[in-house]
Amino acid sequence: MSQGIFITATDTGVGKTVITAGLALALKEQGCRVGVMKPVQSGHSLSDPESDGMRLKAWTGVDDSIDEIVAYNFHLPVAPGLAAELAGETIDRSVILERLDRLAGKYDVVFVEGAGGLMVPLGSNWTIADLAGEIGWPLLIVARPLLGTVNHTVLTTLAARRLGLSPVGVILNGLRPEETEPSVEHNPRLIEAFAQIPVLGSVPWLADLSPEHLKESVLEHVDVAKLLHLLQREAS
Ligand SMILES: Nc1ncnc2c1ncn2[C@@H]1O[C@H](COP(=O)(O)OP(=O)(O)OP(=O)(O)O)[C@@H](O)[C@H]1O
Ligand SMILES: [Mg+2]
Repeated sequence: MSQGIFITATDTGVGKTVITAGLALALKEQGCRVGVMKPVQSGHSLSDPESDGMRLKAWTGVDDSIDEIVAYNFHLPVAPGLAAELAGETIDRSVILERLDRLAGKYDVVFVEGAGGLMVPLGSNWTIADLAGEIGWPLLIVARPLLGTVNHTVLTTLAARRLGLSPVGVILNGLRPEETEPSVEHNPRLIEAFAQIPVLGSVPWLADLSPEHLKESVLEHVDVAKLLHLLQREAS
């Protein structure tokens, strides 16, 4: 199997952290040793329980320190490349790759959460997509379930392929019970038809984000076996 998965999304705030944690817990349940990494984050202090790194650490229960999970942290709530620029710092890809290498040596599978979407700048001449390309692992795309998601998800998938990445699947996330718009039931098949990518599941809005419930929801709503199969295929 591929050593890991890079989790991206069609936008910021779509649910990468929630889905990353849920998938990690689901794979752990199946006996995999699973690590998590958020290479670059902004908008919080490193130890803020609300930050992505700390949420991933708390939800998945990994024993790695937050410095091992997060390579670069910026307080300013702007995209990481801009936050680095404004802080007078540079994000060094070799630092990220070295940290990831260590985690990859420790676990069967490592989930790497991007920041925002694929075209988010990390510096003056590189983006999250470039980082995903250097890591070289298959890409999983988290998308919204509502009107607009076909366009966003097809664009993200096509751009990923054009940039040499390997998007293997889409997970729709966060449908609330009151959201009954007519596109919802058709969006998965339209994404599959126009982006030629499997939609592996639709995770609803969860009132309870405890690890147990996250894991159960992912196991119920996502075709985890198919994801594992796709990862094995990518690795061979
Ligand atoms: N299925 C869900 N059920 C309940 N809450 C959710 C769900 N998915 C996401 N959320 C909430 O929505 C917000 C955004 O989700 P999340 O932080 O996972 O997005 P993200 O894509 O990781 O964002 P970022 O680009 O900042 O990393 C969070 O407050 C999260 O707890
Ligand atoms: Mg996140």
